[in-house]
Amino acid sequence: MRQYKIAVVGATGMVGRMFLRVLEERKLPASEYFLFASARSAGTTVEFMGKKHTVRELTEDAFKDLGVDIALFSAGAGTSKTFAPIVAASGAVVIDNSSCWRMDPDVPLVVPEVNAGDIPQYQNKGIIANPNCSTIQAMVALEPLKKYGLKRVIYSTYQAVSGAGMGGYSDLENGLKGEAPKKFPYPIAGNVLPQIDVFLENGYTKEEQKMVDETRKILGLPQLRVTATTVRVPVFHGHSESINVELEKSFELADIRALWEATPGLIVQDDTAKGIYPMPLYAADTDPVYVGRLRRDFSVENGINFWCVADNIRKGAATNAVQIAQELIRQWEA
Ligand code: A2P
Repeated sequence: MRQYKIAVVGATGMVGRMFLRVLEERKLPASEYFLFASARSAGTTVEFMGKKHTVRELTEDAFKDLGVDIALFSAGAGTSKTFAPIVAASGAVVIDNSSCWRMDPDVPLVVPEVNAGDIPQYQNKGIIANPNCSTIQAMVALEPLKKYGLKRVIYSTYQAVSGAGMGGYSDLENGLKGEAPKKFPYPIAGNVLPQIDVFLENGYTKEEQKMVDETRKILGLPQLRVTATTVRVPVFHGHSESINVELEKSFELADIRALWEATPGLIVQDDTAKGIYPMPLYAADTDPVYVGRLRRDFSVENGINFWCVADNIRKGAATNAVQIAQELIRQWEA
């Protein structure tokens, strides 16, 4: 098998560091790795794959002559907007974790368990987008339900501070010691913030709008009725979601459970008699998406409620992006 050159942009950040851990765990066929960040951390060293790597500064010429095949980006939307096209022009396929390219019709938005078939569309711009963390985990649970026809989806999220990067993480850590927040507009310790990202003119936050738009794109259902309320909670790792779904067709709960049990990447934790249901504390630092609390919504004809949890930095970001890279390589080698 060919050996590939892989770059990580934003290697010093919350998601970037997890990129490195997941790459170490998954052992891609790589001959060389290059780590990039801003001028602030250029020159520092990072221990990775058993050796010290010097972090390089991301500049317009940084990828010239390196021959990078795949570049994993998690350095914010502004950095991706400027640098993803430059890096793609150097011949690399960019797998971008920011929101910048997700809704571009020429850029595939991929959760490998759901729409790996969209990956070849990277050939348009040399870019593949990694979806929003809260969208990714919901997709793995919702895709199997398409069998019954998705009529309407209502998301209510309980999202960890690590989703806001190092700054979000520090706000909770320092807030627990009584310090004022720097990243969030209000204290997050002992609090719940019904705001993730900025407010839009329609009254929703950008995070809520992302969940709506990205769900439709990934599931290939542009007309799907879907709405969201996204909330930041004082949890370090792991996003939780209450998901209400109205289906077109009638169903048995046992059949939905069986469908989920057969879905790669999904683990059913659902035994209320024994007090078993998914929780972020236990999902933290693991790759699967967990579902539980499955029950009928008796207020509509064919409705369900369920609870869905995943590590937002792993499946919600780094793991999903590395899975895309693995699938891309698999498709290249096929
Ligand atoms: P740096 O450490 O040099 O600031 P987080 O979301 O956890 O805050 O991480 C953001 C990541 O994106 C960091 O690795 C950060 O590097 C990187 N980054 C931010 N701005 C740029 C930029 N202009 N060019 C390259 N990397 C950047």
